[in-house]
Formats: sequence, structure tokens, C-alpha cells
Amino acid sequence: MNKRTVLTGITTTGTPHLGNYVGAIKPCIDASHDKDVKSYYFLADYHALVKNRDPERMRQSTLEIAATWLALGLDTQRAAFYRQSDIPEILELTWILTCSTAKGLMNRAHAYKAAVQENVDAGEDPDFAITMGLFSYPVLMAADILMFNSTHVPVGKDQVQHLEMARDIAQRFNHHYGEHFALPEAVVEEHVAVLPGTDGRKMSKSYNNAIPLWLPEKQLRKAIMKIVTNSLEPGEPKNPDDSALYAIYAAFASREQREAMRQAYRDGIAWGAAKQETFELINNELVQGRERYEALMAEPARIEQTLAEGAVKARDWATPFLARIRKAIGIRKLG
Ligand code: TRP
Repeated sequence: MNKRTVLTGITTTGTPHLGNYVGAIKPCIDASHDKDVKSYYFLADYHALVKNRDPERMRQSTLEIAATWLALGLDTQRAAFYRQSDIPEILELTWILTCSTAKGLMNRAHAYKAAVQENVDAGEDPDFAITMGLFSYPVLMAADILMFNSTHVPVGKDQVQHLEMARDIAQRFNHHYGEHFALPEAVVEEHVAVLPGTDGRKMSKSYNNAIPLWLPEKQLRKAIMKIVTNSLEPGEPKNPDDSALYAIYAAFASREQREAMRQAYRDGIAWGAAKQETFELINNELVQGRERYEALMAEPARIEQTLAEGAVKARDWATPFLARIRKAIGIRKLG
């Protein structure tokens, strides 16, 4: 195995926003065209189930996220693009790994600990509303990763601990049953901008400051016009480095465009004009994708077909690989 194997999962909760686009979707789609890597991108719907128990929202979010990745040109010839729940081998591997995962390791997971702490702070029972799904989340994630011998896993900083756990789980298994799993590494893109939202804090659905990726043109313009700025008048010099609007502009701009805009700020561009330019830049980047997105959303069966093809590709690997794992643990034909 000399090729890099890149794999990442997208939890199917919510509607994609500009921050997701800049921070994750765009870099992954660009990477999907690299012929020196083998890549897997999947919709982590069983991870979404941990937080989302509304069936209609589950389906809608899966549809929107799949349509987004396809509309933006994910190379589905090169990369395997599938839905986690279409690969039953992943759940089978999850149980196998669960049986060699230390409970103590899971006790240390940040997300689980934070949920316990919230309960304690609220004077509740520490286990209040905590499901086994939340507790075992890192094992499912390890199965996603180890199933395909992934070597490089692009994730946000908040997921680094999960990658360490996946390595830990793989090592324990390998130590006991022989070298079956590659040890994955987290790839955290430090230079990818963390996009601020309309209020200047990090763009996030939970802060209610996110700009959805596929707003119709007019609404996109409106949303950009609402980004907070200060009260400096037209003609007064402005500091690009403490402006959310500039940070958003910069995430979409070429180096020349960034330089020119920085100069315009120093020369006192009016906030209204800076917003208009920001809108035009973003809209231009998204206009073609938006058309493809709308066409795909109108034809969910086409998306389903693409995901089915991705599942075939993923299972071409997963089925024989899992057969080897089962054999290794002693689940074998008796005759
Ligand atoms: N837990 C990841 C997140 O919330 C999503 C995810 C699920 C994932 N399985 C994965 C990411 C496997 C990388 C590899 O972002």
C-alpha cells in the first residue's frame, strides 16, 4: 500500500453554510481530483443519528449534503462517495472493535465528558439523556476509518481526539490479532480560514450566524448586507484585520483581489460598497454550483443512483476486508 488513502466523513446534520464550504467541502473536493490518492468521502448518517432523531430532517439533510458535494464537482469517478448506512460492514466492524476498546478510553472522550459535566452543573444525574450512541461514537468513527486502511483523515481540530482513539483501538486490535489495520493520521488544515459568521464569531449553526451556502441570489445579498461592521464612515480608513466582512471576502478571493481589497479598506471604502463587492465575489463563485444543486435537488433519484454506485465501490473493498477480520478473530467456517 503505497498510495495515500484519504477518508473523511460528513455528519448529515443541518444545511451546509459558507463556513463548511470554505473549511471542508472545497478543500476535499479539490483533493478528490488528485490522482495520487485513493479517497473516500461519505455521509455519516449513523453519526447524525446520535443527535438527530427527527426522520424527516435526517433525510433532508442527507439529500442537501449529497447534492452539495455533487454540485460542487466531487470527482466520483476517482473517489468513492457513499452513505455510511449503505455499508453494513461498517456496523459489523464497529461491534468487533467495541470488544477490544477499553471503556476507560471512551470515558475520556471530550464530547461525552462535556455532556456529563453539563448534567453535573445542572444538578442532574450525570447520565441524564446520554445514550450509548453518544458514548460509543468514537468506536463507530474508528470503524469508518479503519475499514478502508485510511492513512490520512482531514478533520477539524475538534476531531483530533477521535483520531487518536482510532489509532489506539487499531493498535490494541493489531497487538492481539496481528497487523490488520493501518494507523490513521489526522490532517488538520491550519491555513484554511475559520470563517466568521454575520456577528463576527466563528460561523456556526449553533450561533445562528451562518449564511447558508445555497441561498437564492437576492437572499445571499441580503445576508451579506447584514454582516456586522463598525460605524466608520465612507472615506475613513478601515482595518481589514479586524473586520469579519474582510475575512469572509478573503476566504473567496485570489491573492491579487485580497491585496486590492486591503488597499480599498485603508483608502476608506464605504461598508456598503465593500459588502456589494463581497456579495459579487461569492455569488460568482457559487452561481454555477447553485444551478447544478437545484437541478440535483429536483431529482433525488439521480443522487440515490450515484450513492449506490459509491456503495458498490466501497463494498468491493469492505466485504473481503471484513471477511479477513472475521477470520482473524475466529469467526470462521467450521467445516
Ligand atoms: N465525527 C466527524 C465530525 O463530526 C464526522 C465523521 C464521522 C468522520 N466519521 C468520520 C470524520 C470518519 C472523519 C473520519 O466531523
